[in-house]
Amino acid sequence: MNLNTKDIFKKAVDGGYAIPQLNISSADQMKAVVEAAKKLHSPLMFGTSEGERKFLGLSQAVALANIYEKETGLPVILNADHTKSMEKVVEAVEAGYNSIHIDASELSYEENIKLTRDVVSYVKSINQNISVEGELGHIGGTGASKVFTDEVKIDTKFLTDPEEARIFVEKTGIDRLGVAIGNFHGLSTVGEEKLDMERLSQIQKEVGEKCLLVLHGASGIHDEDIKESVRLGIRKINVNTELRVAFSDALKLSLESGETTPYKFLAKAQEAMQKVVEEKMIICNSNNKA
Ligand code: 13P
Repeated sequence: MNLNTKDIFKKAVDGGYAIPQLNISSADQMKAVVEAAKKLHSPLMFGTSEGERKFLGLSQAVALANIYEKETGLPVILNADHTKSMEKVVEAVEAGYNSIHIDASELSYEENIKLTRDVVSYVKSINQNISVEGELGHIGGTGASKVFTDEVKIDTKFLTDPEEARIFVEKTGIDRLGVAIGNFHGLSTVGEEKLDMERLSQIQKEVGEKCLLVLHGASGIHDEDIKESVRLGIRKINVNTELRVAFSDALKLSLESGETTPYKFLAKAQEAMQKVVEEKMIICNSNNKA
């Protein structure tokens, strides 16, 4: 992956759109993202959590991302999503990832600053072109990208504080900040995922141009709310659960029909996932930007 990820995001800032981070854990899912990006001429951003990249293989994810960059000519970002320790950051950087998300949001404010700052200084000492995302506040839910059949309660005392966000950005030197504004990982079949837009505006005002804002947990958030958050300054939207649901539902249907040929039942799952990826690219307005 040749491009500086900060340049890719600079274009999103200048153009007022967001880049969707699509989480994947297999080569089949990567292809679904690539096909959508090719069709819509969108920049491409893969996300892999620690579990997802362990399953796919870090070097394998990097190799495939590089091949797709060469083959499509599109800008490609491979993000190590929700990385919890320096050890896992080093592993991803050494494998060739060009974007790191250090998630120390479960630690105290001071400890979060310290680990995030250490990660920024390590990553930049290796390669200035790798961008680093931090996280502040507790994104609601259990952290799992899955479907919940009960209501997910948001405790407002854990939402990102705008002033703390400014200080956090200044002290850590991160390129992007994941914010907690009512969003949660996964989606609930009951109850709504409502965003605190006023808080988002305040965070944006405090943080300014120094750092881009990221919305995690985009599955289950209304399209109009995502568009409004992009209008207010969100430049990266993370999507996982809706992709998993589309992929696995289509796979189940295909297997239930008696299909036994992997390239046939997987193609159905891929097509279903690609459709959701295309929808998210259009909502983020990243189509025709590559
Ligand atoms: P969802 O599973 O809610 O889409 O969240 C994904 C995410 O934020 C990955 O970092």
